[in-house]
Amino acid sequence: MISLRSFTSAEFDFACKLKGIEGEAAQAKFRPRFDGSGRWEGHFYNSAIDVAGVAVGEAQARYCAQAMPPGTAEVGIELVAEMRGQGIGTQVLNLLKAELFDTGFYRISGSTDVINIPMQRAFEKAGWKFEGISRHLMPAGEDLPHDYRVYAITKWD
Ligand SMILES: CC(C)(COP(=O)(O)OP(=O)(O)OC[C@H]1O[C@@H](n2cnc3c(N)ncnc32)[C@H](O)[C@@H]1OP(=O)(O)O)[C@@H](O)C(=O)NCCC(=O)NCCS
Repeated sequence: MISLRSFTSAEFDFACKLKGIEGEAAQAKFRPRFDGSGRWEGHFYNSAIDVAGVAVGEAQARYCAQAMPPGTAEVGIELVAEMRGQGIGTQVLNLLKAELFDTGFYRISGSTDVINIPMQRAFEKAGWKFEGISRHLMPAGEDLPHDYRVYAITKWD
């Protein structure tokens, strides 16, 4: 049984490790968003991905009134390595879609690195439509910024 819920306070270290948040300053900055999980907190709606009572990842939705049309949101998902490839990411996309559509959103999008095949497959299996490439989107150190594939689903799909 997969569900989205708020993180419990005991899961702070888990969430930091999952997201690669290290050091006191970075963890203190993350704390308000962690404490506000399970509800919108600023531009973010962070949830624990729960499988049989255990947090195995994080789902995130983002909306910024200054930069996006009302009713639209972007999402991201991260699972611990040992839980990947079992269909959980696809189900989480379905859960996020249901929850966001039920609370007034009509369009949800997400994008992923052109080399991230599992996330692309999850979008496709969940019925999200490929909309194109954001070229040179994500900084990649010494390399050129990576291209990202954009997917979305709307209430009218
Ligand atoms: C991306 C992620 C959320 C997807 O969730 P998931 O539970 O692993 O996804 P699913 O199991 O629903 O689907 C993954 C699909 O990719 C396929 N896949 C995985 N690795 C693959 C590879 N190297 N080549 C081809 N297909 C691959 C799986 O076989 C599966 O497809 P199938 O069901 O048709 O066989 C998860 O893998 C993850 O957390 N990865 C690390 C963080 C990340 O990349 N987040 C997204 C950032 S945009």
